[in-house]
Amino acid sequence: MDIFSVLEINFLSVLIGFLCIILVLINRCKQSLNSRLPPGPSPLPIVGNLFQMDVKQPYKYYLEISRKYGSVFTVWLGSKPVVVLSGYETIKDALVSQGEEFSGRANYPVLMKVTRGYGLLVSSGARWKELRRFSITTLKNFGMGRRSLEERIKEEATYLIEALRKHGDSAFNPKELLCNAVSNIIYSIVFGQRLDYDDNQFKFLLSVIDHYFRFLSSSNGQLYNMFPWVCQHLPGPHHQLFEGHRKLREYVKKEADQRLENLDRESPRDYIEAFLVRMEEEKGQPHSEFVYENLVSSVWNLFSAGTETTSSTLRHGLLLMQKYPHVQERIQREIDDVIGSSRSPSVQDRQNMPYTDAVIHEVQRSMDLTPTAVPHKMMRDTEFKGYCIPKDTMVLPLLSSVLSDPKLWKNPHTFDPENFLAEDGSFRKSDAFLAFGLGKRVCLGEGLARMELFLFFTSLLQRFTFSSTQPLEEINISPECCSFGKIPRSYYCHVKLRS
Ligand code: HEM
Repeated sequence: MDIFSVLEINFLSVLIGFLCIILVLINRCKQSLNSRLPPGPSPLPIVGNLFQMDVKQPYKYYLEISRKYGSVFTVWLGSKPVVVLSGYETIKDALVSQGEEFSGRANYPVLMKVTRGYGLLVSSGARWKELRRFSITTLKNFGMGRRSLEERIKEEATYLIEALRKHGDSAFNPKELLCNAVSNIIYSIVFGQRLDYDDNQFKFLLSVIDHYFRFLSSSNGQLYNMFPWVCQHLPGPHHQLFEGHRKLREYVKKEADQRLENLDRESPRDYIEAFLVRMEEEKGQPHSEFVYENLVSSVWNLFSAGTETTSSTLRHGLLLMQKYPHVQERIQREIDDVIGSSRSPSVQDRQNMPYTDAVIHEVQRSMDLTPTAVPHKMMRDTEFKGYCIPKDTMVLPLLSSVLSDPKLWKNPHTFDPENFLAEDGSFRKSDAFLAFGLGKRVCLGEGLARMELFLFFTSLLQRFTFSSTQPLEEINISPECCSFGKIPRSYYCHVKLRS
């Protein structure tokens, strides 16, 4: 090695060392500027607490460090501080008592990239309030109006039963069929009709949703959200995902354009038409939120949130029935007693079926589908529990900490419907059931999801008994991945027609 190479290597080492010192100093400076943030584990420059956590399941790290730092603490995702709220009282104090301050939606890079900041799920402030109000009213009108939502779900359940019946004795993966059935309910509210399960367009839409949640919940998704400026230039599954979204936006736009041609202003038939009518009414108003971008993204928000969550819950619930056949039998006994076999289940039956109700709640509690909800952000600088959280800081309500709190549940770490049953066998409601979140940004589709879960679940168990292709002790009920949300495992199963 010549003298110049040695000098070059030494110079590089000094430069790298110097840069590291500068970064540490900048980091210290940043932390002291944010010194009124809640405490938390010390971050490294640029990467924050990345190396301390398992990016495949960050919520476990948050649960663990909440034991040391208490119910409000700060972690650093990359170079950004994130305040985590843990425990029922703290989450309630933030999302309910100081609901307005905590009601913003964080700029989560993947969500921002696919929605461009428009639409009901990712927006904050005046835009979000306007779109949320409009969406709640419109869902209500199309759910309760012309044709009751309950009737639609009952009808879809008959299509689903027929499709399952076709599998006869052979083992199959029910994932796609459950997705089709659940998706058709929100599709019919948003687009005004249902689609056949083998419709190619339907398959495409569902594949975009699947891809999207898989990426969001993977470690790749987590890394993209921490370092979007690097990841967007690297090869990876996100490029395919963004391309899928581009096509999906085109699809929604095409559907909207077709409706514009013969729009019945007096009597819109679906969410898109209702939105178009509002767009025409507010045409020319410079600050109107009823614009194409908000239409396209809100349709995507409703369609994706309304499909993945409920179908994942059903899929996981049916897996639990295979793992715990005594629970499945007890539900079927309750169905036989209350409904019988000659009519289909209706929402009214729920009040007479405390065990089934308890099981469905317990499926949701134990699976803990969205451990950190959808990330919030602060709307303004806010004093909270003696700390000052600056405007725009990302906030994660750790729903997981409540759904698995041993002080709140008899058996927090096992699947046990007793968690929702009183001693006399009646259903026991719990305020700590936060599967749908809490406060101003609580899930907008909660009522719809609860109706779908009850009607699909009971309709399926009324007709079929589900069994696994594996011995009970080998059935794996842990999720496939869980970063943003959890993706329950896919599986093969048998369905046997009940007599
Ligand atoms: C089992 C089913 C479901 C679960 C567990 C679930 C859970 C959640 C959770 C935890 C949030 C975030 C709350 C927060 O930000 O603090 C949320 C938001 C949301 N959900 Fe659901 N959800 C379900 C079904 C649905 C359905 C069927 C729809 C369709 C209408 C829907 C639409 C939405 C929308 C639009 C938001 C965003 C609300 C906003 O930002 O204001 N969800 N959901």
